[in-house]
Amino acid sequence: MPSTNPTEISPAELARQREYASQVRELLACQGYEEQPLAFVHTYGCQGNEADSERIRGLLRGCGYGLTGDRERASLILYNTCAIREHAEDRVFGNVGRLKARRQADRRLRVALCGCMVQQGHVAEKLRQSFPFVDLVFGTHAIHRLPELLYRMYSTGRRVYEIPEEAGTIAEGLPIQRESAAKAWLPVMYGCDNYCSYCVVPLVRGRERSRKPEAVLSEARELIAAGYQEITLLGQNVNSYRALSEAGEDYDFPRLLRELDAMEGGFWLRFMTSHPKDCSPALLDVMAGGRHIARHLHLPVQSGNDEILRAMNRKYTAAQYIEVVDYARRAMPGLSITSDIIVGFPGESDAQFRDTLALVERVKYTSLFTFIFSPRQGTRAASLPDSVPRDEKVRRLRELTALQESIAAARCAEMPGKALRLLCEGKGKRLALAGRGEGNQIVEFDGPEDLIGQFVHVRITNVMNWLLDGELTEK
Ligand code: SAH
Ligand code: SF4
Ligand code: F3S
Repeated sequence: MPSTNPTEISPAELARQREYASQVRELLACQGYEEQPLAFVHTYGCQGNEADSERIRGLLRGCGYGLTGDRERASLILYNTCAIREHAEDRVFGNVGRLKARRQADRRLRVALCGCMVQQGHVAEKLRQSFPFVDLVFGTHAIHRLPELLYRMYSTGRRVYEIPEEAGTIAEGLPIQRESAAKAWLPVMYGCDNYCSYCVVPLVRGRERSRKPEAVLSEARELIAAGYQEITLLGQNVNSYRALSEAGEDYDFPRLLRELDAMEGGFWLRFMTSHPKDCSPALLDVMAGGRHIARHLHLPVQSGNDEILRAMNRKYTAAQYIEVVDYARRAMPGLSITSDIIVGFPGESDAQFRDTLALVERVKYTSLFTFIFSPRQGTRAASLPDSVPRDEKVRRLRELTALQESIAAARCAEMPGKALRLLCEGKGKRLALAGRGEGNQIVEFDGPEDLIGQFVHVRITNVMNWLLDGELTEK
């Protein structure tokens, strides 16, 4: 049980930042912009980063910026970065590099980088040495200080680097500029203490810390009152949420979820990511008895082989994982389960990889996110000898993807004629609209655009492999 909650950024500090925001507004007004200056924010990585970007946008608006989706019109370009795999970092370096000429030609343009990638010392150093045209770099623990950092950047005309080591704090009460009017991210905990041997997240996001239950519950109440149809609770290990209420009551994730589920309204509740070690029967029982909780569980397994799981420091065996899945399916028949899998962990043998295929065959996931192991500086797995050639890793990835596609196709073949409730999320690729079902399945259907952001009922009419088409029904 947590004896104390993490420190929150003080109201005095937040007031200080609001003061900086008004000074930035004044500075921007003096810089001779004809119209309101615009900021372009692009987010890489996970939903946690998306949620951070919504706070960054809120802070930028407070500093006097308008927001644009058009990089070319922006006078501040900010990339919120991800460090999870090498490929993610390469894309950022590529995109930032492409801004060099424009930054040098346009004296009013500013380029900023934040997020997980820059929280790593070696990346900050590389930016310092090789990307002198980047004006502002700030780490994951400095987001609430963005107004102060912008003020320093504009008032000194010099580069600003602010990458504090983990402060272990939580910033409540930041302004939030949400991307969608129907789907909301609701972070409940930050950081990660699990130290999976391949993963950079604990190094860049710091120790696990949970928001006070009152803060989570009141944000949810506001979202429901504002008409949000889907609330996704976020945390790298959302189900290890643990905090004390102001009255000193101990909240774990099942309790938090139960109280959120008791709220009135027509919304869906989702949560991610669940670590199998914390996916307790108590949590699954709350899910099974829920009124709003979507019957979807994202439960990353990473591998189906016990030796690899041990080397990954995942803290469960394949059999224990299957036990959780079986319990969940008994409690919720038809439950949709999705997962993440890494192939080609250092030294993974073909036989060990086949255990992963066997597990995938057994669990029959709705969908899978599959990755080739990417060594991350500072993690234990990065220094392990790796005898598996790259070609072989690519082959394994293809074999795993083909297996999953055949599982998804078999599942979809049973769908024609079935009725589903969907949250209409936007335009479709093949038909006019696309929506997502409770189990996270995407269905396309024809209908008027004003259905976007609403719940609709469809019947599945057509299936092509794992793509689903439907038609609107009354109910
Ligand atoms: N906290 C979540 C996952 C966060 S990262 C969890 O524990 O499940 C999302 C996914 O990226 C992970 O589940 C893993 O499959 C993948 N991943 C993380 N580090 C990786 C690495 N070094 N190489 C390849 N894939 C990685
Ligand atoms: Fe990374 Fe493991 Fe933490 Fe997930 S649980 S963020 S994979 S260290
Ligand atoms: Fe990437 Fe950071 Fe999320 S490393 S996956 S953006 S926590």
